[in-house]
Amino acid sequence: MATRFGIIGCGYVGSAVARHFRARGFELTGTITRPDRLSELCSLVDHPRIYRAGDAFADVSFFDRLDGLLVAVAPQSGHYCLEQYDAVYRSGVNALASVLQRRSSSSPLHVTYLSSAGVYGDQRGLPCNEDQSPDVSSGQNAALVSAEQALLNLASPSVQCAVLRLGGIYGPNQDIPTMIRSAAGQRVAKNGDHINAWVHRDDIVRGVDFAFEQRLSGIYNMVDDLQLSRRELSHALCDSDGLPPVLWDAHDKPGARIFNARVSNARLKALGFQFAVPSMLEPVAAC
Ligand SMILES: NC(=O)c1ccc[n+]([C@@H]2O[C@H](COP(=O)([O-])OP(=O)(O)OC[C@H]3O[C@@H](n4cnc5c(N)ncnc54)[C@H](OP(=O)(O)O)[C@@H]3O)[C@@H](O)[C@H]2O)c1
Repeated sequence: MATRFGIIGCGYVGSAVARHFRARGFELTGTITRPDRLSELCSLVDHPRIYRAGDAFADVSFFDRLDGLLVAVAPQSGHYCLEQYDAVYRSGVNALASVLQRRSSSSPLHVTYLSSAGVYGDQRGLPCNEDQSPDVSSGQNAALVSAEQALLNLASPSVQCAVLRLGGIYGPNQDIPTMIRSAAGQRVAKNGDHINAWVHRDDIVRGVDFAFEQRLSGIYNMVDDLQLSRRELSHALCDSDGLPPVLWDAHDKPGARIFNARVSNARLKALGFQFAVPSMLEPVAAC
């Protein structure tokens, strides 16, 4: 029988995971929230559904018939305020965890949840791994961590859950190097000294496959090898094209959510996972 896999949130990453698992012959259930994307979803998965986590009236019986589940939900692009984070990650994912808790089937289920390495927040640029406590001084980080915890708490003899903490995503149609180069010579009101984390979309797809196949449980950083400050990264990208540098601030905006940490990917690598794209400064190999 084909592996039955569900993808909650067939957006940028979820759709790429759907294409990958379809090529592997999985029987796919996929969800979105916006009905206008339904015809697109129909071409991606076997069982397309409109589903918003937290909808008390939704038919959730499909969760009973899955071997694996990816939760890849995010507020709509441009709606990154605290209310949206709370709606999606706190209310939404917590409600989804309750639904999974009440599953009528006791057959094994593996859940992968896509979180963010941004939860490490302000580590003053120091190295950090999964043992480091998240920085929940921002409401957004607190909401993300509450979602992680709700799903990790599902662990039982029949349910395993892996949390992948992603760096900022780059890849097809999300060309971060070009976006950074387009700011050459301009002032950007963000602290250029802060170190961020990044990951290529295709490595996330491979990471979701790896997490499912290895039945990983617990927390794993899914970030590439690049550990540069915004200023160092933009210099590298602009210099190679003979462009003037991006003019970053050297201070924090009052009240800004800070991400400044050298996030390690050693835990995943120690398990044998190899990143196909070590950084956005390297040519992208075929994934
Ligand atoms: N983008 C980044 O740089 C970044 C960085 C770190 C972590 N992440 C994480 O990576 C994951 C995937 O991101 P992405 O770029 O693929 O996001 P995306 O393209 O915005 O897709 C998000 C998906 O979630 C669905 N959705 C939104 N609210 C929902 C809810 N309440 N219940 C169920 N589904 C809901 C959306 O439905 P519609 O299609 O109908 O809108 C969409 O399909 C997310 O978990 C995000 O937190 C992203």
